[in-house]
Amino acid sequence: MSPTFYPPLNVRVITPKLELHGATDDLLAQLLPVVRRGMIGPPPYPFDDPMSLYEESPLRERKWLQAIWRGRGTVRPDTWRLYFVVVLGNRAVGMQDLIGVNFDTFQTVTSFSWLAPDFRQRGLGREMRSAILHLAFEGLGAAEATSEAFVDNTASNRVSAALGYQPNGSDWATRRGEPAVLNRWILRRDDWATTRRADIDLIGVDECKPVLYIP
Ligand SMILES: CC(C)(COP(=O)(O)OP(=O)(O)OC[C@H]1O[C@@H](n2cnc3c(N)ncnc32)[C@H](O)[C@@H]1OP(=O)(O)O)[C@@H](O)C(=O)NCCC(=O)NCCS
Repeated sequence: MSPTFYPPLNVRVITPKLELHGATDDLLAQLLPVVRRGMIGPPPYPFDDPMSLYEESPLRERKWLQAIWRGRGTVRPDTWRLYFVVVLGNRAVGMQDLIGVNFDTFQTVTSFSWLAPDFRQRGLGREMRSAILHLAFEGLGAAEATSEAFVDNTASNRVSAALGYQPNGSDWATRRGEPAVLNRWILRRDDWATTRRADIDLIGVDECKPVLYIP
């Protein structure tokens, strides 16, 4: 696909197993059937409120798109979010977002992700988090990455632990209106550096940095 005129949409992260592509509307259209089918199984629910993915279709798809478009358009030095579609071969199978939190002051990022249910539990969740961390630390110069997951979200918590994040306390959030405890995790740059991968390629990052006010 030819590059767009908006640099964040041209960013790609390429690993031996999968690719993260800036979430263009074409890619979101490819992912739409997955969102339409739904990805929320029985409890425990993975996402804190508010969350479009908890809605019934077709409100779910509309709110999902609207949130992404809103997030794309909300770009300040202290607040930005890069949306990526996870591409496996030629298939769009999930999303992996990178969120700058007071990045101009603290160089902190956090992340958010989901995979189509058919593609879970085969190591892709860990690979896409590893990919987004490479973009954050290697590409954008992040100082630390945080993550949060409900205590019963085994997959997300295991991804964080496996990639060297350290426990960083807990917090409360609601999911579908019910309070539940979140594990907080933090990965500092020095800890990431000890496991830095040499097999991940970054594309289009230099052009994207000025859009995020990163020198
Ligand atoms: C979170 C998510 C992206 C992880 O992706 P994944 O491909 O399923 O995860 P992986 O296959 O890389 O597995 C990571 C680890 O979790 C374990 N795991 C994954 N799913 C599990 C499950 N349902 N129960 C128990 N362990 C599980 C794996 O065995 C692996 O453990 P290991 O590191 O000891 O080998 C995916 O499960 C998902 O989309 N979940 C729903 C949305 C969500 O929870 N998003 C995160 C919100 S904070």
